[in-house]
Formats: sequence, structure tokens, C-alpha cells
Amino acid sequence: MKLCLLGKTGLLGTEFFKLFKKKGFDFISPSSKELNLLDTKKVKEYMEKETPDQIILCVAYTNIDLAEKEKELCEALNVKLVKTLLRFNIPIVHFSSDYVFSAPENMKIPEDFELNPLNFYGKTKQNAEMLIEKSILAGNTHWNIRTSWLFGTSSKNFVSTILKLSKSNTTLKIIDDQIGRPTFAKDLAKAVIKHFIETPFPAGNYHLQNTGNPISWAGFATYFLKQELGNSAPQIEKVSSSQWKNLNFPKVIANRPKNSVLKNTKLPESMRNWKIAVDEYLASIQNK
Ligand SMILES: NC(=O)c1ccc[n+]([C@@H]2O[C@H](COP(=O)([O-])OP(=O)(O)OC[C@H]3O[C@@H](n4cnc5c(N)ncnc54)[C@H](OP(=O)(O)O)[C@@H]3O)[C@@H](O)[C@H]2O)c1
Repeated sequence: MKLCLLGKTGLLGTEFFKLFKKKGFDFISPSSKELNLLDTKKVKEYMEKETPDQIILCVAYTNIDLAEKEKELCEALNVKLVKTLLRFNIPIVHFSSDYVFSAPENMKIPEDFELNPLNFYGKTKQNAEMLIEKSILAGNTHWNIRTSWLFGTSSKNFVSTILKLSKSNTTLKIIDDQIGRPTFAKDLAKAVIKHFIETPFPAGNYHLQNTGNPISWAGFATYFLKQELGNSAPQIEKVSSSQWKNLNFPKVIANRPKNSVLKNTKLPESMRNWKIAVDEYLASIQNK
């Protein structure tokens, strides 16, 4: 089977790239320089020439706040690209987000919960999900995998940003009223390979997050700063989402859901506790 990995330089795509190599998979993975996915004509030519058997789509517009301004670009990458790829009737693994929901607090959100995004990025993800659902209903096989709070060894992410800030700050203000579960990009890529490439589950929506107790961003930072820096970790000042927005306006403008806790009701549990995953991540960056 010939796989096509799109977005191999991103937080998640990097992990697929490493695992595909390790497993000796037959795959192609054009960079954004080799194939600009905004160029529909080039995408068509590429897919018709390469005829992959499955696409792993890790490309997306992921800057949540900038998306409120760069709507056209966000829409082009998150929705139009999906529409273009669906034309080739090639099975797609698509990634969506906790940001398609605005669920009540204290619930674990199941796969069939109603979508009600609070920001533009979330709306584009919802629209992409609708296109995928329509294609599935027409008899095609695709998998829509919702995940959240990714961290990993490539690209800037919450963990790497806070660790960097901890070097020059004795106090850090961090949001305490958004609750979720962090997800290690490497664990997500492993689970996707197992459940959607090697032995594929039926087409549809799936939730994949690391397991363990839900936590706020402030609680998450407290955990990994303590693990990394012990008693010399900076103090964490808990702030609400609205305080954070006021403090960071106009850089932070998008609304975020308070609840990002996803429930997996369809897959055998293969994701470990997020604390164990964070510990491994911290050890891996120390060894670099
Ligand atoms: N990050 C999270 O916390 C999170 C949470 C929930 C869901 N997700 C979803 O998970 C998926 C992966 O996210 P991620 O965080 O790994 O994304 P990311 O780090 O932002 O990576 C985006 C990828 O898209 C590529 N790309 C951008 N514009 C392109 C273009 N015009 N042509 C070709 N490639 C282009 C980038 O390539 P270059 O490096 O060459 O620009 C990069 O490889 C996305 O669908 C995202 O919505 C992410």
C-alpha cells in the first residue's frame, strides 16, 4: 500500500514521517515547497500521477487567533484542500479538533456530540468534517480523528513555549478555566497507524487523546515545570480565559471552549496517561 503523508514538517506530521520510515512503509511525503497544497491544479496533477492508496492529511492552518483575521487562508487549507482531495476517492485520515465543540463543563465529549465551534478555526474544521461525512455517506472510506492540545518534539507548542518562558520569568500567568487532556503527537501517530492504517476501523469520527485525569493549562504547566525544574520552577498565577484575552489583546482574539475533554467510545484504549507521555517528552528534549 502506497501512503501519502501531507504536512511532514508539522507537529504531528513529523511523528508520522519518523514512524513510517522506521516501519519501512511505502510512502510519499511532498514538502510544501515541492507541492503547494493551495495550488489545486498542482494537487490534481500530483495525485493523478502518484495515485496513493491512502492520504494522511496533517496539513492545516493551525494559528487559532490569526485565523480570525486570515480567514481566506485558513478556509483554503482547512476546507478547500479537503474538498479537492476528496475528489480523488482516496481514503483520507483527516484530523479535527476539540475546537469543534462548546460542550458543557464536566462532561466527557462523545464522538456524536453536536458540533458548535466558538471560533473561525473551529468552524473550518466543522466544515471539513461535514465534507468528509458527506463523502462517507456516498460510500467512501475516510476517518475523521479529533484530538487536542498537541505537544511534541517538532515545532513550537505549549510545553516548549512555557519551558522557554520559565528561563526568564519567576512568575507565569496561565489559563485555569479551560480543561482538557494533552496529547503527545508521537502517541497519536502510533495509534493512528495501528487503528487506521495497519488494521483499519470502519469509516467515521474518532476521538484520540492521551488518557489520564483532565487538567487545566495551568495544572498541565505546573506538572511539567515541577518535573523539569523542581523547586526552581516559576510560580504559576492562574488566570481566567477572559483575563488572558484582556492581557493579550489584540494578539489573542479567538474564543476557546472551556471543555476539551474527549471521550473515546469506539477504539480499544491504546493511549497512555498524558503524565507518562510528558515525562518521556521531557527526557527526550534533555537528551538533545
Ligand atoms: N496542534 C494542536 O494542538 C492540534 C489540536 C487539535 C487538532 N489539531 C489538528 O492536527 C493536525 C496537525 O496539526 P499540527 O499542529 O501538526 O499542524 P502544524 O504543526 O501547524 O503543521 C502544519 C503543516 O502544514 C503544512 N502546510 C501549511 N501550508 C501548506 C501549503 N500551502 N502547502 C503544503 N503544506 C502546507 C506545513 O508545512 P511547512 O512547515 O512547510 O509550512 C506543516 O507541515 C491539523 O489538522 C490540526 O488542525 C492540532
